[in-house]
Amino acid sequence: MTVSVCTAEEVPQFVASVAGLFAEDGGRRDPFMDTGWPDREGEAYYADLVKDPACLCLLAPGGGGHLVGRLRPPNPLRPGAVTAALESLRVDAGHRRAGIGGELVAAFFAWAKENGANEMRVTAFAANEGALEFYRAQGFEPFEVSLRRSA
Ligand SMILES: CC(C)(COP(=O)(O)OP(=O)(O)OC[C@H]1O[C@@H](n2cnc3c(N)ncnc32)[C@H](O)[C@@H]1OP(=O)(O)O)[C@@H](O)C(=O)NCCC(=O)NCCS
Repeated sequence: MTVSVCTAEEVPQFVASVAGLFAEDGGRRDPFMDTGWPDREGEAYYADLVKDPACLCLLAPGGGGHLVGRLRPPNPLRPGAVTAALESLRVDAGHRRAGIGGELVAAFFAWAKENGANEMRVTAFAANEGALEFYRAQGFEPFEVSLRRSA
């Protein structure tokens, strides 16, 4: 079981996994989420991202999941912080609890450290209890809390 960096040829598989995440997570939990975005814009967006040295696009074995990481630009309000954000993560439903998510995140941590990061960040929907448990298992701890109300 080895995760790999997504190549330009694998972008369609990558986008299929992203579409699965939109449908399962944001599409169910955020009333404003545009679940058609991956099909409309995903190929062009991720074709650029796989070429961006500030980004990491990983595929799970067989295309059964993905991870997107990104080095954030320096923030003058937080001098000294070099932040790598875990922007997107999914493992195919039939392959969960087998360590693939952990392997994707371990590869992200290694890439982030190689690129000088001294902190990693991720956000998740508060209702996504499985993901929150997973991130705790990877060493993440709550830091900021995002609150929302309808108008
Ligand atoms: C979150 C996700 C990526 C985890 O992937 P995975 O391959 O199942 O994770 P792992 O097998 O590496 O899990 C490692 C550990 O994390 C914890 N964990 C993982 N999923 C969990 C869950 N649903 N509930 C509670 N703990 C969980 C466990 O401690 C697990 O170890 P264990 O299986 O020995 O108990 C996967 O469940 C997923 O794709 N979910 C849907 C999409 C999603 O929510 N993505 C995150 C958006 S922010």
